[in-house]
Amino acid sequence: MAPHDVALVTGAAGGIGRATAAALAREGSAVGLLDLPGCDLDGVAAGLRRAGLTALPIEADVRRPDEVDAAVESVEARLGPVTQLACVAGVLAPGGLLTTTDADWAEQFAVNSTGVFHCLRAVARIMTRRRTGAIVVVTSNAAVVPRQQMLAYAASKAASTALTRAAGLELAGYGIRCNAILPGSTDTPMQRAVWPDPAAGVRAALDGEPETYRVGVPLRRIAAPDDIADVAAFLLSERARHVTLQTVAVDGGASL
Ligand SMILES: NC(=O)c1ccc[n+]([C@@H]2O[C@H](COP(=O)([O-])OP(=O)(O)OC[C@H]3O[C@@H](n4cnc5c(N)ncnc54)[C@H](O)[C@@H]3O)[C@@H](O)[C@H]2O)c1
Repeated sequence: MAPHDVALVTGAAGGIGRATAAALAREGSAVGLLDLPGCDLDGVAAGLRRAGLTALPIEADVRRPDEVDAAVESVEARLGPVTQLACVAGVLAPGGLLTTTDADWAEQFAVNSTGVFHCLRAVARIMTRRRTGAIVVVTSNAAVVPRQQMLAYAASKAASTALTRAAGLELAGYGIRCNAILPGSTDTPMQRAVWPDPAAGVRAALDGEPETYRVGVPLRRIAAPDDIADVAAFLLSERARHVTLQTVAVDGGASL
């Protein structure tokens, strides 16, 4: 029997992270679920185990390199060699150039950019020794399309997108693939937090907002977390064995 995959998913208690962990587990991976203390990681793990799948909850903060290194060690010790990494953890604090505080700027870079660096570095150290592995980083279509009130978020996501591709170039010689997924509006707690009125938020996202120079969603739907998770699972699978250094927008065409 071929050795099974072992995945580490960050942000695994959130909307897209939870769906990504479930998609990978359904495809046969044993999954390490990483998120901050206080999130319902045990609930996510219990749900997967009830379905006969293998899941290990791990409390860690991606801002802390020591905690990320320890999380990877723990997955290796308890589930086996890590072959898949999905960096999904992220934070969004709306704000523009004149309204973003130093703290909001620093926090979004700490999680969305530096956190991704910590995770990629930790798994790359072990994947390069074994010369195998696949990595997906969930960034945002805000990395490539200017958006009002998303100044630091967009900049931090552009940084993690560039980081993913640069790491992918370095890791390609080891047979390790690295791709970024750029979601658009996806129905998760993060998205709902920026929609004080959900019905109006959905309408504005689908129709676009001329006053903020924002185009709508050509496919006229808000993504479900599974829409992003399915692409992540594909990119982390052998079916995508010749795909690396790519940025894949999963946004219904919103970044046209
Ligand atoms: N929802 C959207 O519309 C949308 C659009 C584009 C990109 N994204 C990106 O998708 C990813 C997942 O977002 P989501 O919509 O599922 O949001 P979410 O808020 O539901 O989940 C984010 C998860 O990240 C975790 N997290 C935050 N800081 C962390 C840290 N320091 N260490 C470890 N975990 C941490 C949170 O606890 C949470 O569980 C994020 O990177 C987000 O930027 C989301």
